[in-house]
This record gives sequence, structure tokens and C-alpha cells, in this order.
Amino acid sequence: MVKKTQFIKDLKDKDTIDSPFLIKFSASAIGKNGKPYMNLIFMDKSGELEGRIWEDVTTYVGQAVRDALVRVEGRCQTYQGRRQVVVQRLQFLREDEVDLKDFILESELDADSLYAQLLTYVDSMQDPYYKALAEVILKEDPEIMDRFKRAPAAKTMHHAYRTGLLEHVVSITGILDALSKHYSKVLDRDLLFLGGFFHDIGKIWELSYERVTDYTLEGKLIGHLVMGVELVDRKIRELESHTNPERIPGGKFPEEKKLLVKHLILAHHGKLEYGSPKEPHCLEALIVHMIDDLDSKVNGIARFIAADLTPGRWTALNRNFERFFYKPDWAIKEQ
Ligand SMILES: [Fe+2]
Ligand SMILES: [Fe+2]
Repeated sequence: MVKKTQFIKDLKDKDTIDSPFLIKFSASAIGKNGKPYMNLIFMDKSGELEGRIWEDVTTYVGQAVRDALVRVEGRCQTYQGRRQVVVQRLQFLREDEVDLKDFILESELDADSLYAQLLTYVDSMQDPYYKALAEVILKEDPEIMDRFKRAPAAKTMHHAYRTGLLEHVVSITGILDALSKHYSKVLDRDLLFLGGFFHDIGKIWELSYERVTDYTLEGKLIGHLVMGVELVDRKIRELESHTNPERIPGGKFPEEKKLLVKHLILAHHGKLEYGSPKEPHCLEALIVHMIDDLDSKVNGIARFIAADLTPGRWTALNRNFERFFYKPDWAIKEQ
């Protein structure tokens, strides 16, 4: 077992490094002197670190690839304001030689408790069709339950860590629950809930997340909106096929309800240029879109502020939002 004692967030300029990391990215290039070198990004659960290999590059090409576990010996230096490690030696490790938990960022919340919370929302639903659809997807499919507890919500933008998708969905559903009371005259709470549960459910197959998060082939070619709609379609057919006894009243899922659920999934990115084939055309779809946007931004910006190392009240430039963020006391104290 190679014990991990050095974590990326604690590394400083001129530190000697001898620690296992996970390779997030690697590429080889040719330097100005005509010699090959490698650019890498190492990661552990505390952060990411750029790396350079200048020597023995040919021995590492093909081996030092994404998802590889490596023991890195080298030196930390600051180059153009960013930390990087100049690698002197790389040793390849097997999964059983390390504790994978040290390398993969997780939600601070417990997956099983989050899932239990999700199921209490399911249990509180009233409409027999919407409720049966939530149950058949969230309560009765072991593959979905297992993946939903582990999947991140994204590669980088928000909730980009293990169990991030579930954290995001439970957070959204809590807000939708409050809004359904606030606007009780005009909103269908059960439909809103399905929007919260299923808007991103395609991500459990859109992304691969055994180690480094990446898009799957299906994710790249189809994407989570259409994948979510396909899942709903398949599960509704499953519900309709239970004839003895009938799983849903009348044995047929009402066409209009089916279209509304699919619409909430397809419209949740809000605009055509953000990947939605339809803009929101009902209040529930509009609200799911807006709360999804809100929840992902709160998470993305809060984590950006918390991770920022710039001294003082202002963060470094956030490229997604093209602005600097003010650091409140909670962010300053953490440093
Ligand atoms: Fe989405
Ligand atoms: Fe989302």
C-alpha cells in the first residue's frame, strides 16, 4: 500500500514531492529545442496540479495516460503564477496499492441519506401516474439507484464531484417543494418534482466516473436531455405492461402527462443555444429551468470562492462568469 500523505492543496513552491496521484490529463508535445516533453494534470481529492516531464519522455508516453495511478517524485515550482510539478520519476501503481478515496473528490453529504431524502419526496406525491413513474425509476431499478448515488453532475462547472448529481437534485427538489406551496394555485407539485428528479438523470450514463470524470460515447453522441426522455419513455412502457394487476389506473399512462414530463426534461436548459430543443412552454418547465440554473450557479460560484487562493477580498478572474468575486468572511477564514 502506498500511503498518501501529501495533498495537492497543501503543496507550496519548492516543496519536494513524493506522493501518489491520479492522472487527469496528459499530452505530449515537442519543445523549442526539438525534444519531446509531456504536459500532465495530476489530481487527488484536494485539487489539481499541472506537471511537466522533460526527461525520459518516450518511456512514459502511452503509459502516463488519463486514469493512471502514479507515484510522482519531483519538485513543486511556480511558473507564471501557477504551481506545477517538474517530474523526476513516475512509478505506475495498481488500484489495490492505493486507497481510491484519496484521489476522488466526494460530496460532503452522505449519498444514502440524500437518497433517503429523495425518496421521501417521492412518497409525498399524490398523482398516481407521476408517482408510479418516480417509483419505477428511483425505487425499483438497482442500476439507476447505484449510479445516481455516485454520479457527478458535471465535469467542471458545478457539483463536479462524486454524488454531486444527487446533491444537486435533492437541493433543487427542496426549492421546488417550497415554490409549489408559494405558488400553490398555479403549479402542479408532482410534475415539478418529476422535473427536479429527471431533468439531469441522463447524466448517470452521459458521464463516466469510475475515476476521472469524462463523457461516454452515448453522452457525446446523444446527451443527457434525450437520454432522459428515452428513459422516461422506456419506463412508461414498463408501467403499461404490468397488466395483472394493473400498475397504473386504467393500465395506460395519460398521453398529455407523458408529454409534459418529457417537455420538462427537454426544456430545462432554457434556450436553444444552451442545448434545449424546446424552450419552456409551461410554468413548471420554466421554474425547473430557473431553479436548475440557480442551484448550479450557487454551487459553482461558492466552490470557486472557497478554493480561491488570491490574498484579500477578491478572487482571481472566473472565466465562466468573466468577473472577479467578492470573498466574504467565511471564505477568508478558510485560508
Ligand atoms: Fe442539464
Ligand atoms: Fe441540473
